[in-house]
Amino acid sequence: MSIVDIIKTRRSVKQFKPDPVSEADLLSWLEAASYAPNHRMNEPWEVVILGAETRAELKHKTDFGGAPVVLALLSKSAATPFERDENVMAVSCFAQNFLLAAHEAGAAAYWASLGALPHNRHIIGVPEDYDVIGVFGIGYPDELPLLKQRTPVTSKISYRP
Ligand SMILES: Cc1cc2nc3c(=O)[nH]c(=O)nc-3n(C[C@H](O)[C@H](O)[C@H](O)COP(=O)(O)O)c2cc1C
Repeated sequence: MSIVDIIKTRRSVKQFKPDPVSEADLLSWLEAASYAPNHRMNEPWEVVILGAETRAELKHKTDFGGAPVVLALLSKSAATPFERDENVMAVSCFAQNFLLAAHEAGAAAYWASLGALPHNRHIIGVPEDYDVIGVFGIGYPDELPLLKQRTPVTSKISYRP
């Protein structure tokens, strides 16, 4: 697949097969993700792999669709609000790289924002002043959701003289 095909065929998947994801595959997707742009090469991402106990404590409504792997993606603290925003932007790029690398390999993910809630931050053990970019269920899709159509991008473009 071309990179454009990979981008356009990725889906958020909410139901996974029980088939495991090998550690080697997971690490290869994370390693690819780490080529994300990041200011001053500060590489502000941190990954926390969540085990069964933590998953149960999070009480997610479907336990992340039965995903064999669940991880939290964190963005490191920064000296100023500006740098903190930059870190969040860089880790969001990391997240998209990760999703695309997994998708190219036939896997998929569920991006959940519940990790940012104060009680869930505590359960995950997020350091103070770190941001939670998301909690991701990762595995092989049991159901592939339909494409969600996008607004024509031309309607999002404006011009200034
Ligand atoms: C920052 C962010 C937070 C998200 N949080 C959730 C969430 O809490 N629950 C959920 O079901 N989907 C969540 N999603 C996934 C979106 O719902 C999904 O990307 C969107 O519906 C488009 O579908 P697609 O990814 O299949 O193209 C999140 C996505 C992003 C970028």
